[in-house]
Parts: sequence; structure tokens; C-alpha cells
Amino acid sequence: LKAIAVIGCGPIGQGWAQLFARRGFEVRLFDVSKSAAARAQQFIKSSLVDLEREGGDVSPGQSVTRISVAGTLVEAVAGVTYVQECVPEDVSAKAQTFADLGALTDRSVILASSCSSLLPDTFLDRPRFRERCIVAHPFSPPNLIPLVELVMSSWTSEPTLQKARDLLTGLGRRPVVLRKAVPGYVVNRLQAAVIAEALALVRDGVISPEDLDASMKHGLGRRWAFMGPFETMDLNSAGGFAEYVNKFYRDGYRAICDDLKTREPWAPDAIAQVEQWRRAELPDEQALLSRRRWRDRMLVHVARLVTGAENR
Ligand SMILES: NC(=O)c1ccc[n+]([C@@H]2O[C@H](COP(=O)([O-])OP(=O)(O)OC[C@H]3O[C@@H](n4cnc5c(N)ncnc54)[C@H](O)[C@@H]3O)[C@@H](O)[C@H]2O)c1
Repeated sequence: LKAIAVIGCGPIGQGWAQLFARRGFEVRLFDVSKSAAARAQQFIKSSLVDLEREGGDVSPGQSVTRISVAGTLVEAVAGVTYVQECVPEDVSAKAQTFADLGALTDRSVILASSCSSLLPDTFLDRPRFRERCIVAHPFSPPNLIPLVELVMSSWTSEPTLQKARDLLTGLGRRPVVLRKAVPGYVVNRLQAAVIAEALALVRDGVISPEDLDASMKHGLGRRWAFMGPFETMDLNSAGGFAEYVNKFYRDGYRAICDDLKTREPWAPDAIAQVEQWRRAELPDEQALLSRRRWRDRMLVHVARLVTGAENR
């Protein structure tokens, strides 16, 4: 049985651990906080049982037996082939963790970071054999969202990219490759553009927070759950993408693009309105937690639908 180490047991480490264990890997968890590791193990157990039951597994929770908590970093990485770092988004914490991981592991071991915003060159420069380091940025929760952004540092080698891509593909993920790092990578840039414009529309009194969410949920999101924006537009015009762009961009989208508010700071008024609506819906942490569980069960169903549709 191949072993993987997960370093840092917050929500992201917990998600990766579930994914690796479900796909048959032995998982070693390590966290500087013993209580965080213990809490994570509890949460992983109940979440795995929940999701495996939802997915129709005959013996839900069996994969939990493949997950253990290591007492030290040395113990966590002994004999592993891959390490997924999930410590907080802090450049010096990441740099120190990678320097330690580099010193403790053989050069054949891939060291991947869950980092979501730091440029890879700022913290992947120190480990021994830094060519085996790469950012593998997941989306929350990593066990249920298939996309992973593989972001190369200046030193990441092609064999490292290939090995990380093969491993993640084998785990049912869909890696995309960024050969050049840009702030926010790709998906968070797309998300930032959407959320900035959404808040501006609320601030300007164009739409309520509830109807804004409905616009994505019942409109754009319906198609974007199984096609990208380019394919969506390709299908929106009889002659395809270029025709759509030529016909509509000049007259319609051009004026919209000139009016977008994506570069404006997020308005406190709009943030307060969204928060007020959300807290009326989900008043406390308990309500948020149970809605998060609902989201995870929905993601299992969406994955099943989309995979079924792709195989048709
Ligand atoms: N939360 C998200 O939606 C999301 C999505 C994708 C990627 N990420 C990235 O994943 C990483 C982890 O995110 P999170 O939300 O789980 O973080 P978190 O802060 O909730 O948890 C981090 C855990 O790491 C532990 N830790 C701190 N220093 C450590 C060290 N040196 N060695 C071992 N453990 C250590 C902490 O005790 C804590 O339990 C971050 O880089 C984050 O940006 C987060």
C-alpha cells in the first residue's frame, strides 16, 4: 500500500486525507497542534461515513482505517511517495515547512503545496532538490471538487509535473497546469471578477443579494456546472464561438465591459447586506455546519450527474 503524508489538518488537509484514503492510499496526518489533529480525525471519520453512505457504499467508513495521526513530521513522511502540505497561508510557515520536508525526504518524493495565493517562487526556493516541489491548489472541499491547479515554480521539473498530474488524475481529479504563476492563479481570478461585480450590483441597488445568488444558481451556474464559458458561448450561436464574439461583443459586451466595476474596492454596505441575508438564512455556526454537510451531499450528486452525462 502506498503512503501519502498530509501536513496540516485544517479543512483542506481533512479533505485531501478523505480523498487519498478513499482511493486506497495509507494516509499519515501531521499537525503541530495535537488537538487539531485529533479533531480532524473525528471530523474525517463522520464525513467519510456520511459521504460513503450517500454514494451507496456497502460498508461506509471502511477507508477511515487507512488514516493515522503521526506524532512527528519525521514519522509522517517516513516511506511516503507524495506529501501534500496544508499549513496556513503564510509565506514563512510554508517556506520553513518545505525546507524541513526537503531535508527529511528522498529526492524521488513529490512535495506538493495546497497554497491558494502565494507565488510559488516565494516559498519553494529552499528545499533540497527544489525541482520536485509544485503547488497543487485544490478547491474546497478537495475530496469533492475535482479541479486542482498545478502551478509550477521556476524550478519545478517536467517529471515532477508529470508525476503529480498522473497521481491526481488517478485519484479522479482534473488537474490544470499553470506554467507561469500569476497572483490568484486562474480560478480565484475568475472568482474575484465575479464577486467584485456582484457586490457592486448589490451596492448600487440593482439587485438584492438573494436574487444575485439566484442568477448564478438558476442561470449561469446551470451550464457552467458541466461546460466552461468558451464552450457555453460556442453553443450560443449557430456558427460557433467566433461568430458569437463578432456578432455580440462589439455592440453588446463591449458596452458591458466598459461599465464593469471589477476594479473597485468591495463596498462595506454591500457586504453588510449580503451578511444580513445570509445570517437570516443560517443564524449560527451549527446552521452553517449542517448546510455545509448538505452542500457536500449535493456535490456527490452533481459529480454523479456530470460524470454520467460525460460518459453518455
Ligand atoms: N480554505 C479554503 O477554502 C482553501 C482552498 C484551497 C486551498 N487552501 C489553502 O490550503 C492551506 C490550508 O488551508 P486551511 O483552510 O485548511 O488552513 P487552516 O489554517 O484552517 O489549518 C491549517 C492547519 O495547519 C496546522 N499547522 C500550522 N503550522 C503547521 C506546521 N508547521 N506543520 C504542521 N501543521 C501546521 C494548524 O494547526 C492548522 O490545524 C492554505 O494554504 C490555504 O490557503 C484553502
